[in-house]
Amino acid sequence: MPGKIPENILEDILGRVDIAEIISGYIPLKRAGRNFKANCPFHHEKTASFMVSPDRQIYHCFGCGKGGNAFRFLMDYERLGFLEAVETLAKKSGVILPEVKPQDAKALSFSTQLFKINELASVFYAQNLNLPAATQAKDYFLKRGINPESIKTFKLGAATDKWDGLIGYLKVKAVPLSLIEKAGLILAKENGGYYDRFRSRLIFPIFDIKSRVLGFGARVLDNSLPKYINSPETPIYVKGKNLYGLNFAKDAIRDNDSVVIVEGYLDFLMPYQEGLQNIVASLGTALTTEQVRLLKRYTHNVVMVYDPDTAGELATLRSLDIFVEEGLNVKVVSLPQGFDPDLFVRKNGIAAFREKIAKASSLFDYKLNVLKLRHNINETEGKARLACEMLPTINKFEDAVLKSEYIRRLSEELKVQEAALWEEIKKLKAGNEKNYSKAISPKKEAEVNPTEKLLIKLMLEETGLVSYIKENLTPDDFQDERASRIVGLVFEFLEKGREFGPSMLMNHIDEEDVAKFICESAFLEVPSEDKEKVVVNCVQRIKKEKVKVHRERLHEQIKQAQHSGDEEQLNLLMHEFHDLIKK
Ligand code: CTP
Ligand code: MN
Repeated sequence: MPGKIPENILEDILGRVDIAEIISGYIPLKRAGRNFKANCPFHHEKTASFMVSPDRQIYHCFGCGKGGNAFRFLMDYERLGFLEAVETLAKKSGVILPEVKPQDAKALSFSTQLFKINELASVFYAQNLNLPAATQAKDYFLKRGINPESIKTFKLGAATDKWDGLIGYLKVKAVPLSLIEKAGLILAKENGGYYDRFRSRLIFPIFDIKSRVLGFGARVLDNSLPKYINSPETPIYVKGKNLYGLNFAKDAIRDNDSVVIVEGYLDFLMPYQEGLQNIVASLGTALTTEQVRLLKRYTHNVVMVYDPDTAGELATLRSLDIFVEEGLNVKVVSLPQGFDPDLFVRKNGIAAFREKIAKASSLFDYKLNVLKLRHNINETEGKARLACEMLPTINKFEDAVLKSEYIRRLSEELKVQEAALWEEIKKLKAGNEKNYSKAISPKKEAEVNPTEKLLIKLMLEETGLVSYIKENLTPDDFQDERASRIVGLVFEFLEKGREFGPSMLMNHIDEEDVAKFICESAFLEVPSEDKEKVVVNCVQRIKKEKVKVHRERLHEQIKQAQHSGDEEQLNLLMHEFHDLIKK
């Protein structure tokens, strides 16, 4: 897997970072003796089975089996490639990486170049705002209550009416036109040449969590349509993966342990400017699971604020289910007719907005109210239809108490028996259960031999005892293939005189099941007896086991040779058998 970055550098990085500190930057960790535990971020669970060991610098989930070192965590959680994970931690720990191979540099640099172009473009648009040609744009921001400080913070800008403003600016910086086109900032003319995508518009740079510019949103200055034009998708701007403002809001979200989600740029900017900073914007599209997971790193409490016109839409209601599926608490605020968050804050002040948020309805109440407007629950048909739309949401709640409370309330509202609603829930379950259990239950794996597991644990902890083990066993003596692999690796490390803690070994392991084996052995609880004695004992048991397996195999082969009448083969096997018995 790695290969490209020298071993000692990886060692250096892992030696400087603390896995508990890194992971606690994403999910809350609780102390549990020498370890930390948490609800696993990689599968849905109610009781914490995700363990982090500061001693061994690894993590492991006993529920879903995911585990590894700090690099692996970033790869899994942030969906980074190995190199990216190494880069991230290198930066964090102050380790300087050597130049990467040209082919990697190329792969890396395409997105790096796109980021660079976007960055330059954002500077261009921001500068424009001070030109006479953009007085209108600047006035527009100010008229809408966006103050100069916000303009600076959010790098707001303007595109003038020129067709080649950006082209001219980037030409001076020697950026190839084909790249600017790939960044989505210019468009090819039919008869050759290019023109700026954004003209005569306000510019909102869209940042990622690291405050890099992914793309832009651009609003007209009047009522013409389309109101917004956005950057197209590019290798760095994939819609539905990002939330506007999260880079600015993440600390406030964590501090408040809640996040307010609004729809538009200005709906984000106005409350933020007025001091409500635990806020992000979805930019007018339905939220994706990926976005919800992004938020989940910072909080489990979400308040959605909708304009009244979108609030009642079925798509809107459905998208709320994602939060429940991901185990988040979601509440909903629906603003009075004619208001969006931006206008509401400007008209009524931030305190009134905060109050709205504090009084947000639960998803259940909110959805029930919307559905009651849509269906006539005095009629049987209407009751059935409402139940049909409500039950899938209720069914998504993991908490049995909550679920039965909602069923009770729904039965009251509709004046139908609770039992009937439970019956319907059961039907839903029968349809879904299969997929569900498949998604969360870990893969069945070969039984792990406890002796081998224990010995590996001791090898990784009592490194002084490894040479004894090496004198007495070969990797092949281990019955479990994963164990052989690990032992082989450890022996190799020993020979080279290198450190071989669990965290370091992980860098050499691609196979998930082998990594899992290391994690499981590392977290094994063992009584603190004389470690040396335990090791000697394990070695003996493994040897015995090996003989036993060997004998069984010979036995089987002998039976077959007898059966097929292969005298020569039979003689050989009998010989081997007697040798083995003698030993
Ligand atoms: N949007 C978009 N393209 C459009 C319309 C809307 O991408 N043609 C996105 C924008 O991100 C916008 C959000 O949807 O911010 C919400 O749309 P809307 O409520 O219409 O706009 P506002 O942001 O409220 O803008 P304004 O208050 O200036 O009208
Ligand atoms: Mn608006």
